[in-house]
Amino acid sequence: MLDHEQILIRRGPRSGLPIVLAVHSTALGPAAGGLRLWHYPGWRDGLTDALRLSSAMTLKFAAAGLPSGGGKTVVALPPGTELDPPSRRDVLRDVAEVINALDGTYAVGPDVGTSPADMAVIGETTPHVFCKPPHLGGSGDSSPHTAQGTLAALHAVSHHLYGDRDLDGRRMTLIGLGHVGEHLARLLTAENADLTVTDIDPAKRPLAEELGATWHSSATILSKETDILIPAALGGLLTAQTTHDLRCRAIAGPANNQLDTPEVAGLLHRRGILWIPDYVVSAGGVINAITTELHHLDATQSSTRVNAIETIVTDLLTTAATQDTTPAQAGHDLAQRRLGTT
Ligand code: PHE
Repeated sequence: MLDHEQILIRRGPRSGLPIVLAVHSTALGPAAGGLRLWHYPGWRDGLTDALRLSSAMTLKFAAAGLPSGGGKTVVALPPGTELDPPSRRDVLRDVAEVINALDGTYAVGPDVGTSPADMAVIGETTPHVFCKPPHLGGSGDSSPHTAQGTLAALHAVSHHLYGDRDLDGRRMTLIGLGHVGEHLARLLTAENADLTVTDIDPAKRPLAEELGATWHSSATILSKETDILIPAALGGLLTAQTTHDLRCRAIAGPANNQLDTPEVAGLLHRRGILWIPDYVVSAGGVINAITTELHHLDATQSSTRVNAIETIVTDLLTTAATQDTTPAQAGHDLAQRRLGTT
């Protein structure tokens, strides 16, 4: 069944690159979602990713209680492609034209492979763009807010597992030191968590040293014993295979689409591992962008909304415990209720 409202696939007239823009739902309001500029074996893989990521955005907004819908744009770069600055501009202008043609049905933001500077370029062509740099009137980098929201979720998980929201001495394993991962690592260090980090890029190792965190090889990170595992890299980490190796009590991280298939949530549950839906944990970035840019909240009000992720996660954990279900199911039910589909 096709459950997306619109899927646009264009070969960018300037860049020649495949652009996939998927609007999953505008049931709650105009769609929003980031632009992923990343390497894929072929454009069809980019399409698959855009479909999954855009439907996750619908859940993200619904669970966060925001009147926005889910969308995503993927530009599928052939493996190994590096974009020089003029080619990058070409791609961004191609993308901006596709967005403009949708007339406000969808607005873009940054995602893996794009930044506020890229949003500024898109903003030269279309007004439907979030997270432009502050001097251009946007809310800027969303990753510190995503990290803050993740921290809020981790407090809720810690309270649920240990009766104490304090993260002092808690063993946390963070996978991925990209934009969000690095901010989160700093927040967790500030809270004295017992932090282990990894990244597929060994160049991130000095950050571990700077923070006094333990660096661990990315190849064996999943089997490291820990209290809470925090996926903050690309999706698809949790598969039927990898769940066997896990030695943690809970998983809560900002990476989008962590489960390889929805069934993995059931496997984790049977292994006694709590999995908090990624679309709930990772909502801080969009909450900040949407509430400040669209709803004109000030920084304090918006930060309160981001921190409310702690309450949302606590509610999911309570619902799961009292109704003998999983936080995954409770999150799904919450989103579907808001979407009016149940
Ligand atoms: N990368 C963000 C996310 O997945 C996308 C985004 C940020 C969209 C800000 C709109 C505004 O949540």
